[in-house]
Amino acid sequence: MEKQVTAETAAHRHPTYEVEPLILNRWSPRSYKETEVPEEVLFSVFEAARWAPSANNEQPWRFIIARTKADREAFHSFIFPGNLAWCQKAPVLAVILSKKTTAKGEQSRAHAFDAGAAWAFLALQAESKGLATHAMGGFDRDKAREMLRVPNEFELHAVVSIGYRDRAEALPEAYREREKPSDRRPLAESLFEGEFGRPTLQG
Ligand SMILES: Cc1cc2nc3c(=O)[nH]c(=O)nc-3n(C[C@H](O)[C@H](O)[C@H](O)COP(=O)(O)O)c2cc1C
Repeated sequence: MEKQVTAETAAHRHPTYEVEPLILNRWSPRSYKETEVPEEVLFSVFEAARWAPSANNEQPWRFIIARTKADREAFHSFIFPGNLAWCQKAPVLAVILSKKTTAKGEQSRAHAFDAGAAWAFLALQAESKGLATHAMGGFDRDKAREMLRVPNEFELHAVVSIGYRDRAEALPEAYREREKPSDRRPLAESLFEGEFGRPTLQG
């Protein structure tokens, strides 16, 4: 567990209330080293996702990883150019899916919510292991579904890059400026009390 916010985080992120450093230290960089991720470390990231909560404990999430050259090249073919330009060096890519139907065969209301929880757990575990992650919605879902042979009852949510960070200077120039932790809007714009849109009583 990370005990402190990094200097980089402290320079860009100023929480109003106390938050676990691990949560603040996670952000989505684009510059990756080509260094392989040891299997034990990589699988611990998905182990964390496994322990996410889900409606009826149905665990609708699925993950397809690509870490060999051939698998990564296949993934590259369905990632949109604006993402491919930076994620090509990442040693691991993963598609996050979830099952749209429940065990009873009904439409699930919670599958996307649950997959989001799994992604968050995954990203935090990765951060705790010194790994960076970056989710991408910018990819061709139809092509990915076909290439990865994803059954129709599964929705494709995101491709995630996983690996060790490199310097901003290693990126194509257009991406360098954005290679830093982002800020957030004030909590009061997201947190209401009593009814939608009503400010909280304090703060
Ligand atoms: C579902 C999802 C889709 C995203 N798609 C993209 C994308 O296609 N390209 C990209 O560069 N970043 C993408 N992002 C990254 C977000 O822009 C990023 O998480 C957000 O700006 C907050 O920054 P942080 O993760 O560094 O804290 C995506 C993130 C999520 C969760």
